[in-house]
Amino acid sequence: MTDTTTLTDKAVDRQELESKVKEMYRQVAEEPEGEFHFEMGRALTERLGYPPADLDRIPAQAIESFAGVGYYFHLADLKAGESVIDLGSGSGTDTFMAALKVGSSGRVVGVDMTDAQRTKAERLRDAAGFANVTYLKGYIEDLPVEDAGFDALISNGVINLSADKPQVFREVARVLKPGGRLAISDIVTERQLPEGITCNATLWAACIGGAMQQDDCYAAIEAAGLRVVTREDNPQYRFISDNALGASEKFGVKSVSILAVKP
Ligand SMILES: C[S@@+](CC[C@H](N)C(=O)[O-])C[C@H]1O[C@@H](n2cnc3c(N)ncnc32)[C@H](O)[C@@H]1O
Repeated sequence: MTDTTTLTDKAVDRQELESKVKEMYRQVAEEPEGEFHFEMGRALTERLGYPPADLDRIPAQAIESFAGVGYYFHLADLKAGESVIDLGSGSGTDTFMAALKVGSSGRVVGVDMTDAQRTKAERLRDAAGFANVTYLKGYIEDLPVEDAGFDALISNGVINLSADKPQVFREVARVLKPGGRLAISDIVTERQLPEGITCNATLWAACIGGAMQQDDCYAAIEAAGLRVVTREDNPQYRFISDNALGASEKFGVKSVSILAVKP
């Protein structure tokens, strides 16, 4: 992760967070039948709004490890021939969804720091013949791609995990073309989380501890130079462990989908 100092740095140990996130999402890739704070898999994707006909065209093993928090493709409005980057692409569900929409004349790049996730996504891509999808090892705070190279940037349940969200949004602004869109689903809170939660790297890795207060999140997107166009709540998404449910009810931890554009 980057060295930039932010208020959130004081709340969580970055190295501990990175190793917890990598271990949690290695398990998501390799042992999706295990117990997690959050739901995964096909039933979740359908409840969030993924069209079953699209899901039928995506490798089932990618969907088993789907750990997203919402559906935003109606906001992304991807068109044939477009270039798309997915931040925290995991086992690949959203990169395959994007590939269906941009077609063979478009391209999709997935970036993820967890080797097990990328390895699984690459294996599934090769078996299913998604020739226009590439995966890169990297951090969302320091994207390994060119400036202004993408029509759209997508991400699902990932930015809340970053210890430097303002830097992530600066990277979003850097890699989008003028007129490019950010379309994401992520976890935010209605009320600011207390340090007891934000210092807990395990709750952070479970997509709760790192969630930004919603107005701060929209302000950080706009501070990076993007204009927020649409915000939607995703009440279909809910946490499942008691620990996570308790925090989510007390502080209004919730899933939202956001569309923003780079002027
Ligand atoms: C909740 S999962 C979501 C994965 C995928 N978007 C999906 O919907 O299934 C979060 C993913 O983001 C990756 N990730 C978390 N923090 C990251 C960071 N700072 N840089 C790169 N990848 C990160 C994790 O390795 C994990 O694969």
